[in-house]
Amino acid sequence: MPKTIRVLLTGYEAAPFYKRGGLGDVLGSLPKALIQIGIDARVVIPCYEEIRKNLSAKRIGKFKIHFGEKEEEIGIYRNAGTPRVYFLSNSSNLSYLNTRGRNKKIEQFAFFDLAVVHFVTWLSKQRQWNPSVIHCNDWHTGLIPLILRNKTKLPIPTLLTIHNLSYQGFGSLKVLDLLHIKDEDAKEIKRGMKVTEINILGEGILHASSVSTVSKTYAREITDEKNEGPIYAYVKKREETLGRSRAIVGILNGIDYDVWSPQNDSAIFHTYNVANWQSGKEKNKKKMLNSLDLEPRLTFCFIGRMASQKGLDILVRVTKHIVNNNANLIILGSGAPNIEKSIRKLVARYSSHMRVEFAYNEDFAHKLYASSDFIIIPSRFEPCGLIQMIAMSYGTIPIASRTGGLKDSIKNNRNGFLFENGSVLSLKKAIKRAVKRFHDEARYGKMVVNAMNTDFSWKRSARLYKKLYQNMLLQHNVTH
Ligand code: GLC
Repeated sequence: MPKTIRVLLTGYEAAPFYKRGGLGDVLGSLPKALIQIGIDARVVIPCYEEIRKNLSAKRIGKFKIHFGEKEEEIGIYRNAGTPRVYFLSNSSNLSYLNTRGRNKKIEQFAFFDLAVVHFVTWLSKQRQWNPSVIHCNDWHTGLIPLILRNKTKLPIPTLLTIHNLSYQGFGSLKVLDLLHIKDEDAKEIKRGMKVTEINILGEGILHASSVSTVSKTYAREITDEKNEGPIYAYVKKREETLGRSRAIVGILNGIDYDVWSPQNDSAIFHTYNVANWQSGKEKNKKKMLNSLDLEPRLTFCFIGRMASQKGLDILVRVTKHIVNNNANLIILGSGAPNIEKSIRKLVARYSSHMRVEFAYNEDFAHKLYASSDFIIIPSRFEPCGLIQMIAMSYGTIPIASRTGGLKDSIKNNRNGFLFENGSVLSLKKAIKRAVKRFHDEARYGKMVVNAMNTDFSWKRSARLYKKLYQNMLLQHNVTH
């Protein structure tokens, strides 16, 4: 085993360069935590035009790849700080963000995956830096294990972390022709599925040396036969060789306390900590409610993407109940037009108690965490979820569905409330308990302190990743 483990992490986004979801947070903060425990962690992502515009990175090299019939040049850029982040640029395949059509999108990331594999060779030759492990994230990087094996025979173990199984990267199998590779293993398990299609996440699950996801409960949920979907055939194949408990392991994400701490958050109206949370939150709340022209009263919020995963339809059905308890409800997020429409209707009806901002607005999110009493997280499934952890660090009590990472990070009645996944009735009951608790000053105060004191730092998760990398390397030495 190498003295220092060198890990190249890759994915579709990484904060602060480009971030649209939780994966961006993870690739922004996990590498820092890995470095702190002695791992040489570096990151590589595509250089979208939006990144390039704001980047003060310099071009440090280039290489060429063959994609389909064409030879394409890839430029390599690097940031100035640590962790080292590399950006791969190619104007015809990597610069744009929203491709039209699923086949274009999978082509784009097949191209990126091929580029990453060649970039590894470049790093090794030009910088004498060979990764001990390549850590792929989500379907966008799912072809790397297969390409690595087919194209280079580089003996580097790969870890694939699944952040959300509902995005799998479906499209035409022709994408493999562009890469000039074949996949006999996938053919074999595709019984009952369209043989002309590819499922890129499935390819990753099949070929990565190890597969993980972002909570233990989600790992159990996705390997459960009851949830059998198009991906299950691939999961099952892993299970056949490794056994159910080892096929997909769960490691809970952490949050970055440099960004998410009410003690030194310049975005909020007043900073506070666990010793003065009461007055701190009160001041934030007063300003926030004032600015939104809402009465000072108990305040619930929702923050997140408006996608069906996030269960807003359930929130819509309990709004009346919240208002009847004389509480405010503030919603922040953007997404599906039909969901936005139903929320707009509600705001019109309950204008004295409700406000909504249809936007992705980090600054407002910070303020909302600091000034709300409770946050409702009605996700139908949640691989990990960062919102509940962030909220807790601001002393905002989560009321969340008992699923995935929400279940693993919230202790019911101690630092939050859990309700039965998808049940309006159960959420109503949880809200009732929350309101009652809020009026019991001593018990509520204890709950806030418990929440603020819960440790969601990356340190713990980074150690678990380190262990996993070490196991992968041991395993790898046995088989090579
Ligand atoms: C995805 C999941 C979310 C998770 C995040 C980071 O966005 O939906 O639950 O927290 O990835 O792993």
